[in-house]
Amino acid sequence: MTHKIVILPGDGIGPEVAAAARAVLEAVGSAHGLSLSFESHDIGGCAIDAHGDPFPESTAKACAGADAVFLGAVGGPKWDGGGPRPEAGLLALRKTLGAFANLRPITLFPGLERLSPLKEERVAGTDMLIVRELTGGIYFGDKVEGDETASDLCSYSRQEVERIARIAFDAARGRKRRVTSVDKANVLATSRLWRNAVVALRDAEYPDVELDHVLVDAMAMKLIERPAAFDVILTENMFGDILSDEASVIAGSIGLAPSASLSESHGGLYEPIHGSAPDIAGQGKANPVGAILSAAMLLRHALGEGEAAAAIERAVSECLAAGIGTGDVGGSASTQQVAEHVCARIAEPDASIPLAGT
Ligand code: NAD
Ligand code: IPM
Ligand code: MN
Repeated sequence: MTHKIVILPGDGIGPEVAAAARAVLEAVGSAHGLSLSFESHDIGGCAIDAHGDPFPESTAKACAGADAVFLGAVGGPKWDGGGPRPEAGLLALRKTLGAFANLRPITLFPGLERLSPLKEERVAGTDMLIVRELTGGIYFGDKVEGDETASDLCSYSRQEVERIARIAFDAARGRKRRVTSVDKANVLATSRLWRNAVVALRDAEYPDVELDHVLVDAMAMKLIERPAAFDVILTENMFGDILSDEASVIAGSIGLAPSASLSESHGGLYEPIHGSAPDIAGQGKANPVGAILSAAMLLRHALGEGEAAAAIERAVSECLAAGIGTGDVGGSASTQQVAEHVCARIAEPDASIPLAGT
């Protein structure tokens, strides 16, 4: 059976990291006998330029018919001056696919501890999974956009909270059985609903999972104070967006962090957590690891190919440990060179790795 993968390269470094991820998918496909087909479509700024719409009908149709969707990144200063925004295309895609469960694992790669802005003894043991609600909250509430006043409505239903909390509790059962739910229940009504719904679900269905609650401002502090203390972090859309960028640099670079956005009715959306990085676009400097590890998540979650996913993760980890990486992780390789090394490692898992620069 051929698995249909739609690739949406997008803008800025999006096409560079998407090409790297595709090369790795092709390499693991041949090494593991998988039949994968690829189709690329426009989204974001490039889709505004080509179709006048950040999420054209042709893209929507292709994504709906795919087994999984991979996205590079969208956005950039070119589209900041008014008119349709590239980011609206990504939000529409997430909503259309029903991709409500955004999993953002933050892991420390062996040998990269020194890249963390935190002291090595503080980051040692960091291994967390951020579970971010992705299709609700302030991102999707009614908006008033005026010159004098503007508003963004934040709303959540109990059902939306339970649905994402269930994902977090289930994930915790395969990890250290600890969930930290992050909210702002001292101020926000949506957060009080969030907390009540999470507690009720835990008591009813997950008594074996330890649950605690941290207010989002304190969480921003605790993440850098003791990152290794966290297992699964469950939070709403905007808090998860902010905290995951913060958490990513604790592990060395935002360029390393992958994500999967799971749906009840589709194979899901897979994208690195970083953006289009206009400051380094077109220079071969973008770290492709977040994108490559998102491709591994695609294999595991959308296609049920856990072994192929693990082969990618192993190859990435070994390359990084050997010093093969882009500038943001202290290496001197280009985006494409990192991908080539990962592909070579997948093709020949037992070969010795040349040291960086050789
Ligand atoms: P960004 O993530 O694009 O960049 C932040 C910083 O991290 C920059 O210094 C950049 O060079 C660096 N960086 C990001 N990815 C990197 C990588 N793979 N390798 C090395 N360095 C990397 O965030 P931003 O600058 O705030 O946003 C730029 C644009 O991207 C905006 O238009 C924003 O809306 C968009 N954006 C898109 C997504 C997405 O498509 N999922 C996510 C975040 C931001
Ligand atoms: C992300 C991005 C997006 C978000 C933007 C580009 C809409 O920051 O994927 O983290 O806020 O979700
Ligand atoms: Mn973000």
